[in-house]
Amino acid sequence: MASSTSSCDSTAVPFTLLGALLTAGPAAWPACVGGGRAFLRDYAQRGTNALLWAVLLAVTWVLLVRVAALLRLWALGSRIPGPRALLADPGLADVLRTGGDITGFLSKLHSSYGPVVRLWVGPSQLLVSVKDPTLVKEVLTKAEDKLPLTGRTYNLACGRLSLFVSSFEKVKSTRESLKIFLNEKLTIGGNLNSFKVIDAIMYRSDSIMSKDFLDSRSFSRHMAFNIIGATLFGDAFLDWSDTVTYEELLMMVAKDGCFWASYAVCPFWKPSYRRYQTLCAKLKILTESIIRKSRDQNSSVHHFDQRSYQKSEGMMAGHSLLGAAEESLSSEEEICGNIMGLMLHGISTSANLIGNILTRLVVFPKLQDQLHAEIVAACNESSELEVDDVLRMRFLLATVCESARLLPAGPLLQRCSLKHDLTLGSGITVPAGAILVVPLHLVQMDASVWGNDAGQFNPHRFLKKDIVLGDILAAPSGSNGMNLSTDCAKTESFLPFGSGSRACVGQKFVILAISMLIASLLRKYEVQPHPSLSKEVGSKVDSSHSHHLPNSKIILTKRRI
Ligand code: HEM
Repeated sequence: MASSTSSCDSTAVPFTLLGALLTAGPAAWPACVGGGRAFLRDYAQRGTNALLWAVLLAVTWVLLVRVAALLRLWALGSRIPGPRALLADPGLADVLRTGGDITGFLSKLHSSYGPVVRLWVGPSQLLVSVKDPTLVKEVLTKAEDKLPLTGRTYNLACGRLSLFVSSFEKVKSTRESLKIFLNEKLTIGGNLNSFKVIDAIMYRSDSIMSKDFLDSRSFSRHMAFNIIGATLFGDAFLDWSDTVTYEELLMMVAKDGCFWASYAVCPFWKPSYRRYQTLCAKLKILTESIIRKSRDQNSSVHHFDQRSYQKSEGMMAGHSLLGAAEESLSSEEEICGNIMGLMLHGISTSANLIGNILTRLVVFPKLQDQLHAEIVAACNESSELEVDDVLRMRFLLATVCESARLLPAGPLLQRCSLKHDLTLGSGITVPAGAILVVPLHLVQMDASVWGNDAGQFNPHRFLKKDIVLGDILAAPSGSNGMNLSTDCAKTESFLPFGSGSRACVGQKFVILAISMLIASLLRKYEVQPHPSLSKEVGSKVDSSHSHHLPNSKIILTKRRI
């Protein structure tokens, strides 16, 4: 006998939501055994349970993978020599917290555990310090990625950018185009001899130089700002009315970048952080404005962008500059971010080096006389200084390199291999994701490599046969070449610009640009100490360990030519 309930038996009602909806509808539900509503409730319960199980399984899977990775990290990490530490090395934590002497700390560990030392920064964070020059070279070449922190400082200030980022894959093509762009600046005999930039800067700065005295730090920053700005933006930069504001903003943003980047979560609730963001926004607007101006004058930014877009793969593939600019805002953002990043990095590092050299010049008048004699001898025939002239000034180039050796941009070079374990020639395996560091002072002042005077300023060491200044400069084609020597025992330990896959792409450019600047300056002016410069400064300059020289007041006196 057919009954009203027969339509509700389990065979008649398919156990799916669709089946429920296809039944007679809400009006008919109360008539069913247990009711359609009960069925839906049951259905929802089963669905929710299934979903919760799926989530639970996924979370468990992720946790198991993480735990397996952690166990692997601990297993591989514990095979690397280093102090015993349960979760994190308290000594390192202390040094990091108090901003202490990390080089001294690592030096002690290397002398106890050898050229490769492991430390636990936290339960899941392994740090491996490498000191031996051959292993250093291997690490810097094989470990192609960087720590997220490296790019974070620039990300915070510059927004989106494809330079200085962690992943080598992402930075590769932009590095290549930038290298070509900068090396073209050094092309000798080309139509565009951009080293005229230095003449233009010298001319513009004549009024500054005639002041009673100069603060060497701000003078160096100003010089670095002009060199990097004029190189990236071309002539547009030299007649830009906003250069003063731009310089000031860059300096303010550079000053606090690392501090704010050290926060895991940006403290947007702090007024001082919000002020920093406002400065970054202003800086971005000004950068966009000079990029536009430079493009209008069809100069270097256009050239660099075009190359980037044409040469690169992935994100930027197939774009021309105009296409990218019109089509995709993010690409425009990236150009702006890259240029801001280059300005921030290039200016701070170059200014430090210029300032360091200036202080040496005032403290060691003999050095200055020697350099001046070389400059006069190398360019007495031509009235204007050319790159070729500077390439002949071996003592000047050696002075710049030696100053850079004694003044690395930071205490450590950082690397990591994000995806793969790294097996070193020595048989040690560094697990993927571990932080690899190279303590620069230890490598660049290693007496076994550089001799007992490793801590002293001695440009002559770059003129000896066991270091290839030509390799350091890799003089561009068309130049006289720099074949100063043939053997390269020390070249691998010269790391102020890093080395390997993530080495500084500005190395050759900046050594020549700074040499050109110093040559132009010394040709016209004598650099003298302000009477207030105490003798104490001299002793600091000469001392082995303090290479961040004190800021000095200098006087530029015009030479009688
Ligand atoms: C005295 C001046 C400079 C010093 C001491 C310096 C130093 C450095 C160092 C130590 C690195 C990291 C290298 C590594 O990890 O192996 C680096 C990276 C870099 N430098 Fe410089 N630099 C200077 C000037 C410049 C200039 C003028 C430019 C370009 C205009 C430039 C562009 C870059 C770029 C793009 C990177 C990042 C490479 C990457 O992440 O792959 N640098 N620099």
